[in-house]
Amino acid sequence: MKLFAGNSNRSLAGHICNYLDIQLGKANVRRFADQEIFIEILENVRGEDCFILQSTSYPANDHLMELLIMMDALRRASARRITAVLPYFGYARQDRKPGPRTPISAKVVANLITTAGADRILTLDLHAAQIQGFFDIPTDNLFAVPVLARDVKENYALENVMVVSPDVGGVVRARALAKRLDSMLAIVDKRRDRPGESEVMNVIGDVKGKDCLLIDDIIDSGGTLCNAAEALLAKGATSVTAYITHGVLSGGAVSRITSSKLKELVITDSIEPTSAVKTAHNIRVVSVAELVGEAIQRTALEKSVSSLFD
Ligand code: R5P
Repeated sequence: MKLFAGNSNRSLAGHICNYLDIQLGKANVRRFADQEIFIEILENVRGEDCFILQSTSYPANDHLMELLIMMDALRRASARRITAVLPYFGYARQDRKPGPRTPISAKVVANLITTAGADRILTLDLHAAQIQGFFDIPTDNLFAVPVLARDVKENYALENVMVVSPDVGGVVRARALAKRLDSMLAIVDKRRDRPGESEVMNVIGDVKGKDCLLIDDIIDSGGTLCNAAEALLAKGATSVTAYITHGVLSGGAVSRITSSKLKELVITDSIEPTSAVKTAHNIRVVSVAELVGEAIQRTALEKSVSSLFD
């Protein structure tokens, strides 16, 4: 088994190699002057079971292209099997047509990855579980909830905790965390009655005096999270912390979080944290290296990975 990595998340690749006690596969990933990507695999992969770790995070298109080209290089070098390991699958939010004459970009990206040579996909907290069906190859969608729940147990007094979904779409994910923590569940229900009117945040559940834990798959601009936090505090929550798998954190999101009333934002390293994230006083990163590493190991050994979903 060999693990290679593009440039998106070298530190996670390093942690996974430590967990697996292997060396990262040698590859040269570089740019021509016009920014075309060039990749050279620097070791023999003939007949090998190859894994490529690459999150299609910012810059999403460059990282996607690196993944596609690396798969092609491995395929042409006679790798026996190629698993694309995508701790963060970008484009996942474009999983349906939002209006007439619009694309389903998540499906386009799934097609590209398959066509470039992936035999399997290993990913984490897909924005919508049914995106697995966009791939016609085996796709394992790991859940970060066990990692997040362990962190909550280590850092919070559970008797006062209330798990909160920041929108109606995230209730299944929030329920999974609440079940693990044996805690109650609340929901922030965003409504805009008419176009142009401002959004009204209704909180379903009594959060007064509770330490609220918001859980979501993605934080991008931070708008969803900060608005939900405001709504919970306005309803009397004692504190609001957020657990979010993928820290996309575009634009001014980090400063929005640092100047918000959030006690803490906990994200995973599915996307490589920027230096702004690392130095933010109320953002903490927990690693999914063991989870992803274990899934890679079990895939290589043809063992079940389903216990990792529990
Ligand atoms: C939406 O369905 C997702 O689960 C996230 O809530 C959303 O992507 C967060 O985006 P932002 O941080 O820009 O509000």
